[in-house]
Amino acid sequence: MDIDFLALQQALDSTIQEAEPRYWFVDEAGPARMEPDRAWGILDAAAAAIIDARGLRGIVGPTAGYDVLHRTANRLYAELPPEEAFIRLKQAIWTLLVAGHETTALSVFWTLCLLQRDPLLQRRLRLVGGSTYPGPVAEATGPAITVRHLLDESLRLRPPVYGIGRVSTREVALGGVLFPPGVEFLVCPWVVHRNSLYFPHGDEFRPDRWSEIDREDLPEFSFLPFGGGPRGCIGERLARLEAETILQVLLAAATLEVAGPEPAPRAQLTVRPERPVSATLRPRSEERHCVRDGRPTHA
Ligand code: HEM
Repeated sequence: MDIDFLALQQALDSTIQEAEPRYWFVDEAGPARMEPDRAWGILDAAAAAIIDARGLRGIVGPTAGYDVLHRTANRLYAELPPEEAFIRLKQAIWTLLVAGHETTALSVFWTLCLLQRDPLLQRRLRLVGGSTYPGPVAEATGPAITVRHLLDESLRLRPPVYGIGRVSTREVALGGVLFPPGVEFLVCPWVVHRNSLYFPHGDEFRPDRWSEIDREDLPEFSFLPFGGGPRGCIGERLARLEAETILQVLLAAATLEVAGPEPAPRAQLTVRPERPVSATLRPRSEERHCVRDGRPTHA
């Protein structure tokens, strides 16, 4: 496949940096690294290359056993004129890149960063060998912490999508105020997730809290890293599966050491680190634990 991946990464970065700073808590948009037309040209060419490499142009036929892109192509070419189907298919690929890859990668990144500043937690994360998704990753010096707890706590504290927009379609009363149709609302997981009513010490990274929280008792939308309602994220399950698997494999093999001070979050289209981050992966092999007869032991 003829794709310059470095240029693609830069084009994606540039497009995300350039996202319009619409809301008061977003400071200025960062300087775009690339001319917007050039960035879009690269994204467009990459999507076309993926379509061609997969032989998806004009494809119509059975879809059983095929992946999401194949199915999307199939449906678009069955329903639309070929030129329009091609444009829509490229848009679907950008959506997967921006909505899917960017967010999931950030959730793994922030989890590792948050973990790094807590040496005690890291010690507890000596892995139980042979544990599989979604099994426990830790029980060296405290109760088990699952990858799911780690990820949920990181999604709570560093939700990759910090704000979700909605427009009222009819009059709506909220907190004693009547809003007319056409008002723009911003639901902000970043703020909602710090409500001390549901998340005491809400600014602290405490994966343990998730072993105590009964999710059934959490009011709807008090934890909403994936949004909610009819327009909620369609990729939540895939994202969780991907992120938890990556964390499980990575944490079993290595610890991450981020150089310099803790990366500050910056709201762009997503929540990215303010500056590029350098990190070292250090093998864990010498401290790995095994399970014998259901009990963790040193290897
Ligand atoms: C940790 C990873 C992810 C996070 C935090 C995330 C978060 C979100 C949020 C907050 C929304 C807006 C929901 C709303 O308006 O109520 C959204 C929408 C969406 N997400 Fe995700 N997402 C993630 C991964 C993915 C993946 C892996 C895919 C695709 C494979 C995906 C595809 C989409 C799409 C297509 C929408 C728009 C849905 C619509 O408007 O109907 N997302 N996501």
